[in-house]
Amino acid sequence: MLLKSNLMNKKKILLGITGGIALYKVLELCSRLVKKDYDLRIIMTENAKEFVSPLTFETMGRTKVYSEMFHKGHHDLVEHIELVKDIDAFIIAPATANFIGKAANGIADDLLSSAFLAYNGSVLFAPGMNDNMLSHPATQKNIEQLKEWGHEFIEAQIGRLACNTVGKGRMAEPEDIVPVLEKKMTVKDLRHKKIIVTAGPTVERIDPVRYLTNDSSGKMGYAIAEQAWKRGADVLLISGPTSLKSHWPTEYIHSTNELMRKIDEYFDDADALIMAAAPSDYRPKVRYDQKIKKKDQDLILELEENPDILMYFAGKKSHQKLIGFAAETENLMENARIKKEKKSLDYIIANDITQKGAGFNVDTNICTIIGDDVEKLDLMSKKDLADRILDLL
Ligand code: PMT
Repeated sequence: MLLKSNLMNKKKILLGITGGIALYKVLELCSRLVKKDYDLRIIMTENAKEFVSPLTFETMGRTKVYSEMFHKGHHDLVEHIELVKDIDAFIIAPATANFIGKAANGIADDLLSSAFLAYNGSVLFAPGMNDNMLSHPATQKNIEQLKEWGHEFIEAQIGRLACNTVGKGRMAEPEDIVPVLEKKMTVKDLRHKKIIVTAGPTVERIDPVRYLTNDSSGKMGYAIAEQAWKRGADVLLISGPTSLKSHWPTEYIHSTNELMRKIDEYFDDADALIMAAAPSDYRPKVRYDQKIKKKDQDLILELEENPDILMYFAGKKSHQKLIGFAAETENLMENARIKKEKKSLDYIIANDITQKGAGFNVDTNICTIIGDDVEKLDLMSKKDLADRILDLL
């Protein structure tokens, strides 16, 4: 019973696989979607089966692979209709020029093209083909037609193609496809909200090879930006140096001063500023143009204060909501409340960074949201925390 209700809660994705060499990447796509606990349904075209056996996809996708339109002796199921029933998303990867052509012209001569016609939602296409085939006016016209009908495309990339040329035609990477697919499945309750999110550390240069920074990985801020983007917000992420990938509008900065100037360019128009970044409070008083030479004596580095960004925008704000974080190692609630008052914040998210699973460079956090009320949250993923914070808006 439990198992059944769990399965019923899972989001259902129909994955259509057509016959292009890029379908080897779809194995990774399958694996990523299964790890994220989506319920997959798979249709392979006859040409796709020439590249990889359906058994491989059945194993990776933990599901049956459908291909045939006609089953002798079975009259109880019209498969192309059943397969598109109740799905949360439909993706075609790789989408060949041939399939795009059929879809744009209403040709339903196999199970996948029939399922496409039987589905009345927006389909995500991940094209993968030779560059000349992609740039051909026929393919471009077909893509335009499908877009006009509300279908979406995740652009093919430039790179080395199977035909040993370099050009635009490589199917997008699975790690880039998954967030776009998830965005399609997310309710757009933040549409029309303009949200600035900051993430990561700042870097204050001492000389060309040395700098001051901190342990922020950017995970918290990126999770907020990602959820805001998926929920339809007009989001701008302003990020310090991190190793994370962004799929939404992003500006990159290094120092606290640069971060403040960048926010300033967008602040007047914004509805909210969420400061998950860990900007350096100090910077070296002198920035050396040449590498400081080692001498046989102590070196004293003089620091000067950086501006407090949230305080600056608290003085400037009209309608904007200001949300800050407090990264504390002691007296969590007291210090967080002082920061909230001093920086005139609508909310402060207090994280005790001494706790296991909280704070810097982990995928989870343990926070208390302090607004007019106080809400103490248990350990949760930064993604779930991001949604809780965005709910405040
Ligand atoms: O990036 P992760 O590895 O995922 O880690 C997440 C995090 C621990 C960095 C994040 O959850 C967090 O707590 N961010 C704020 C870190 C911080 O700078 O805290 P603070 O208590 O020093 O600053 C309080 C608030 O003022 C913060 O919102 C900060 O962005 C802001 N600030 C800080 C310094 C400064 N000069 N100007 C500011 O506006």
